[in-house]
Amino acid sequence: MDNSKSKCVLLTGGAGYVGSHTIIPLIESGYEVVVLDNLSNACKGDEGQNPVPISQVEKLVGKPVTFYNVDLLDYDSLSKVFDKHNFCCVIHFAGLKAVGESCIIPLTYYRVNVSGSINLFQVMKEHNVKKLVFSSSSTVYGEPQFLPITESHPVGQNLLNGYAKSKYYIEGIIQDLCNSDKEWFVIILRYFNPVGAHPSGILGEDPTGIPNNLMPYVAQVAVGNRPCINVFGNDYNTVDGTGVRDYLHIMDLAEGHVSALQKLQNADENGAIAINLGTGNGYSVLQVIDMFSQVSGQKVKYAIADRRAGDCASSYCDASFAKSYLGWEAKRTLKEMCEDTWRWQSLYPQGFSTKK
Ligand code: WQD
Repeated sequence: MDNSKSKCVLLTGGAGYVGSHTIIPLIESGYEVVVLDNLSNACKGDEGQNPVPISQVEKLVGKPVTFYNVDLLDYDSLSKVFDKHNFCCVIHFAGLKAVGESCIIPLTYYRVNVSGSINLFQVMKEHNVKKLVFSSSSTVYGEPQFLPITESHPVGQNLLNGYAKSKYYIEGIIQDLCNSDKEWFVIILRYFNPVGAHPSGILGEDPTGIPNNLMPYVAQVAVGNRPCINVFGNDYNTVDGTGVRDYLHIMDLAEGHVSALQKLQNADENGAIAINLGTGNGYSVLQVIDMFSQVSGQKVKYAIADRRAGDCASSYCDASFAKSYLGWEAKRTLKEMCEDTWRWQSLYPQGFSTKK
């Protein structure tokens, strides 16, 4: 099939946090979106209904979203989805992403993330779909050797967990694929720290169990679900001793994917290119807690605890290449990240699990 004029995009893992938020600006930009997800980390809908995040997106965009409950490890089912749609491109979000868990079950992370990606790329090749946006992570940089982190920073060195290594291996597979077939054009997006929620408050980060990440944990303390947050170390060489990260509003991140897709469709290029998506600003744990307390009007109780294994002191990016190559830059502030998170957490104190 000739997909050169198609605007139909497949989102693997599109029922997840980043994927579901990305559907919105894609549809607003005129794309037709098809979502594939195995629902291992997304709230299922009622019998015969789309997963809850997808139903919420449908309310926001005012049109149905095609959804397939398919696992990337199920080659035949995956291939059948490609038989049904003339995809111009794939945005590949699907994968396990809990850093701590990946140290306990690395083989699962490599099977799901790496083997799943190989299946996807093989099916794409067989259907002549050779434009890809890949959801990678700043963790491929390991312990920063310099700051701000540019795309030329070394990758794959001293990676401490299976999650980071899986992302690094997939980036390498993509490079080899592009070297073997010059028709491929791939944009690798290295996310810094995605946080926040859609400003409507009906879509947000909905972690299962105890949140691994700072922002959802802070939000759950503010809403009263958890008594206190442990601050993992206050003896780092940073502004106040606590860890500094480059937090990026989920809607800025979502819009970054649209910019990447438009580049894939409009530029006469090939090969694989990696781009940092971040704000270029770093905020400490205590600065985030303070901002969240301000916007929510709730005191966020915290206690200083030991450092967390694998954490670095500071990580934030040089975002200038995203600006020059994609014409994209983050617009939303830390205050907006906290305001939108608080609106979501207040509307859904238990996430989607108990409220549809
Ligand atoms: C941020 C800061 C913690 C929780 C990870 C992945 C990355 C991406 C985002 C997937 C650090 C501190 C946290 C808590 C705390 N995930 N913290 N108490 O570790 O920078 O990045 O999540 O794509 O790939 O590596 O994010 O939110 O876990 O931590 O003090 O209860 O908050 O020490 O300084 P991180 P995080």
